[in-house]
Amino acid sequence: MDGVGGALGLAGDQVVDALGTAALAPSVHNTQPWRFRLAPDRVELHPDPARRLPATDPEDRELRLSCGAALFNLRLGLRRHGIKPLVTVLPGHDAPGALAVVRRGGLRGLDEETAELVRAVPARRTNRRPFHDVPVPAAHRRALVRAAERERCWLHVVDDRAERARLQGFVAKAHRLQAEVPGVRAELSAWTGARVDDGVPPASAGVRPAPQDEWALRDFQAAARTPGRDYESDPLVVVLCSFYEGPEAEVQAGQALQRVLLAATALGLSASFLSQAVEVRSVREELRRSLGGLLVPQTVLRIGYGTHVPPTPRRAVADLLLEPCAP
Ligand SMILES: Cc1cc2nc3c(=O)[nH]c(=O)nc-3n(C[C@H](O)[C@H](O)[C@H](O)COP(=O)(O)O)c2cc1C
Repeated sequence: MDGVGGALGLAGDQVVDALGTAALAPSVHNTQPWRFRLAPDRVELHPDPARRLPATDPEDRELRLSCGAALFNLRLGLRRHGIKPLVTVLPGHDAPGALAVVRRGGLRGLDEETAELVRAVPARRTNRRPFHDVPVPAAHRRALVRAAERERCWLHVVDDRAERARLQGFVAKAHRLQAEVPGVRAELSAWTGARVDDGVPPASAGVRPAPQDEWALRDFQAAARTPGRDYESDPLVVVLCSFYEGPEAEVQAGQALQRVLLAATALGLSASFLSQAVEVRSVREELRRSLGGLLVPQTVLRIGYGTHVPPTPRRAVADLLLEPCAP
């Protein structure tokens, strides 16, 4: 792409490649609420206020999780070009308004674990369809827990039957509460269906909800379900938690989210979100208390062995760039 300057010692096309990797991150309703500012010595990650979801995500918590996921991908994109990224989350007056600044911390080649995550970036999808009724092996669960720990977060595996039932109740309750909020419904329909380079297209919508579903998945106006094609009976359900609250923790949790999702992809696993339980503040508080009160639940994932789903669209890198700062 013409006109993109270099940064961090990389040429323009390498920067475009790294930003393209960042932009493949998941984001709530595929809003892609991130922008980047380039300077010779840094890449800044900024939120895009035009892509907020004021009813669904009034405190921008999921916006920051999404940007955190893009930040993790950016780190991988830079590693692919031999750069060791040095990240400052919420840099303050160093880069006003930025959620993170990435500088060059020297050169570092790709180790096998990082290379595996890099390969998983374009293969990862949110998969809302039913999974196969095959349990996720204990070793894979441990690998996902480790992935969250590597990013200074905690992945709580919901194993206990009573706890699963309680979490199902939280998701269902939040789902019902959200259905009564016109703004939430309007945001969902605005970001669903035929859009050009963002939003959730019909092919990614999963299957239409049915009364027998145990977990209330968000309804993206999916096509009718093939009779008998029900959800798996026992998905792996996990709650990704941070150890503290606030914007910094949310960007951190976004990075952990993406490492967990990419580790899952590398292991052949699929994942989808059950975010309603953390989007409705009162339910999030109930969930937090049920986890003992110390951990801060940031998102809820359903994980298992899925079938193929197509990719969702992304905006061009040129549309993600902020004007460079005046020297
Ligand atoms: C913080 C966050 C919350 C999300 N919550 C939901 C959700 O509740 N339900 C859902 O179906 N997808 C959810 N998603 C998935 C996005 O809709 C998805 O990432 C986006 O459509 C892009 O598609 P992709 O993940 O396949 O690339 C969430 C994603 C993020 C990052």
